[in-house]
Amino acid sequence: MKTYTLSVIDVKRETSDTITLVFKQPGLRKIKYLAGQYLTLIFRINGRRYLRPYSFSSCPTTDVTLDVTVKRVHNGLVSNHIHDMVSVGDSIEVLEPMGDFGSMGISEGDIYLWGVGSGITPLISMAKDILIQKSGVKVHLLYGNRDLENTIFLELIKTLQSLYNDRFNVIYFYTQLSVEPELPMWVRGRITKESIVKILQNQEIQNCQHYICGPLGLKDSLISTLIELGFPRQEIFSEDFELIKDPKDFVDIHTRTVKLKFEHQDINLEVVKGKGILESALDAGVDLPYSCQTGNCSTCKAEVLHGQVKMIGLEKERVDLRVNETLLCCSYPVSDDVVVKI
Ligand SMILES: Cc1cc2nc3c(=O)[nH]c(=O)nc-3n(C[C@H](O)[C@H](O)[C@H](O)COP(=O)(O)OP(=O)(O)OC[C@H]3O[C@@H](n4cnc5c(N)ncnc54)[C@H](O)[C@@H]3O)c2cc1C
Ligand code: FES
Repeated sequence: MKTYTLSVIDVKRETSDTITLVFKQPGLRKIKYLAGQYLTLIFRINGRRYLRPYSFSSCPTTDVTLDVTVKRVHNGLVSNHIHDMVSVGDSIEVLEPMGDFGSMGISEGDIYLWGVGSGITPLISMAKDILIQKSGVKVHLLYGNRDLENTIFLELIKTLQSLYNDRFNVIYFYTQLSVEPELPMWVRGRITKESIVKILQNQEIQNCQHYICGPLGLKDSLISTLIELGFPRQEIFSEDFELIKDPKDFVDIHTRTVKLKFEHQDINLEVVKGKGILESALDAGVDLPYSCQTGNCSTCKAEVLHGQVKMIGLEKERVDLRVNETLLCCSYPVSDDVVVKI
């Protein structure tokens, strides 16, 4: 997999817990990406290598820099490292851009971008891209936050609205707004089923797509409501920042030893209950390839040579995997004789 080393040329504060890292495009090997894709940043912290994906908040058609916007996660290792340690002039190793969120865009009609908090990052890149490139498409941004102070890209969104006022419609949802809503597009509360129905009451089903990036609750209620309203499932797309693990899926999972074949070595790996094969390998100091850790990118794809594994937390159906293929970031052994090769 291709890697690049990028220089940080600016660190912008967006909100009290969110910053944007602005990278210079390399002089020769320019990085090409699509709005909605992500960049995987690589860090070495306390002697161990960590990779974390961050969606581009810059837009490939307008921005000369490569930007990612990072929210500090409570007790999060890498997000806190980025906030506390990264500064202008640093060089950061990254993997080539990945991801297919946003790649299915239409050339005419309506695109709804549903986001909460840091889920705005791929959506703002897509909004800019569509507004600039596709004059036949109307963009609707439905954006949930705690309050005005925590609204990432508020000023940028206002600028886009003034530039594209006939094609860019924004509704903000605030759960803890401390002032009276000044404008009709400020709604108190979360994005609920009732608000989704109200927003879409006059929307035609044809030529309409929905892109969702936010917590699981938002995604589930949006997808079920959109389907109830008649929007086809194949026109609804979502991006997950985190692997969701349902405790019910773990009843038949126990601590087991897995034989891992990697770089001509046979490694006996203890996979303790609750941890996946990838996480167990990384904890044991085995530097397996990975990126998204949400079952999306295939970087951790492996072959099951023996025994049985179960994939847990996959949000998207992976019809492309062969019968004996598995994604180690979501894989748990369910028999005692598992042998996997990557
Ligand atoms: C495709 C993709 C795109 C992403 N884009 C962005 C982005 O644009 N901006 C951004 O800030 N993050 C983004 N993320 C999330 C990011 O990759 C990291 O997961 C996040 O920064 C947390 O990493 P960490 O090392 O700080 O936390 P870890 O040390 O890995 O986790 C610590 C704890 O926090 C929980 N946790 C992990 N991720 C999150 C999260 N996102 N929100 C809340 N709790 C979490 C974990 O369950 C764990 O309990 C993206 C993730 C994916 C898969
Ligand atoms: S790391 Fe992306 S699918 Fe496993």
